[in-house]
Parts: sequence; C-alpha cells; structure tokens
Amino acid sequence: MNRKKHVILVGMPGSGKSNMGFFLSKLMRMPFIDTDYYITVKEQKSIAKIFAEHGEDCFRKIEQQILLEIIEKDPSVIATGGGMPCFYNNMDIMNEFAVTVYLELTPEKLFEHLKTDTKRPLLKGKTGEELTDYINISLEQRKSFYEKADITIQAYDKTPAQLATELVKNISGFMANMTQ
Ligand code: S3P
Repeated sequence: MNRKKHVILVGMPGSGKSNMGFFLSKLMRMPFIDTDYYITVKEQKSIAKIFAEHGEDCFRKIEQQILLEIIEKDPSVIATGGGMPCFYNNMDIMNEFAVTVYLELTPEKLFEHLKTDTKRPLLKGKTGEELTDYINISLEQRKSFYEKADITIQAYDKTPAQLATELVKNISGFMANMTQ
C-alpha cells in the first residue's frame, strides 16, 4: 500500500528548504511545517538554546520524536533540519510516509548562503576557512542519506518560486509512475 502522503524536503543547511517549502505548500494547497520551527514552539526554546543547554544528542532525539508526530498529521509539505535524515532511521521513515526531495546545492553555493549566518549552532564562530571545511566534510558524510530521496532537484540559480513550480511537476510525475 502506498503510504506516501506528505512531501518532505531534505538537504544541507542553506539549501533553501524552508523558503522553497513555503512556496510549494501554497502551490500544492497543503499545510507547511518547518521542523526546526515546530521544535522551537514545542520546546519553547531556540534550536541554539537546545544545543547549548542539552547537547546535540538530545536535539537529535527530539528531532525524531517530532518526525514521528508530524507524519501522523494531515498531508503536509515538510522542511526538515539539515541533520534530520542522517540520524537513526529517519530517512527510511520519511521515504515510507512521504515523497522525499533532496535540494542539492554545490559547496560553493552553500558557502554563499551560510557565510553571514548567525543562528545555526553548528556553524557558530566559524571562520570562512572553517565553514568551507565544515560544509565539505558534512556534505560528504550526509550525501548518502540525502541521495536516498525519491527526487533530487538542483537548487541553484532559481528563485524559491521557480523551484517550487518545477518541483510540482516532478512530484506529479513521480506519483504517476508509482501508481502505474
Ligand atoms: C542542523 C541544521 C539546522 C538545525 C540544527 C542542526 C544540522 O537546520 O536543524 O541547527 O545538523 O545541519 P537547517 O538545515 O534548517 O539549517
């Protein structure tokens, strides 16, 4: 039985999951959920504060609980935190309950998007060189998880609205193939 009722966006921090997800949800007339925002509201704490006060392991546990909670909801477009697919069996859960989409961006483009970031705890205080290393290393470690997604879309040189329009077509094509 096909249990894929959501659309879940995965990819590195800075790949544009939240911006694009918002546009996609409007086009698909589905609610939009951003897992980081959802966690912030539920825990009444910023992601940075959760990392600082409880550590990354605790954040990853909360992240999985949230994923299990969200997949029970009505069909939604869900933008995930960059690490979510890479812990526990999260990517397999996502693939079971959603059409998954990897927003792929080159390390150079990710650097452009992240170099002025002040909010993400894993990037805090990094020099330009350290950020480049972090992006290259984590992309290498995470790629195999992201690449399990049903659809991969190149996310550069397009606005979130253009990407969302392109993706609606890809998702319909994917769904049509699945039901054949
Ligand atoms: C993380 C990415 C963040 C957030 C947390 C951890 C990661 O989400 O979940 O800071 O491990 O890469 P974004 O991908 O929205 O930045």
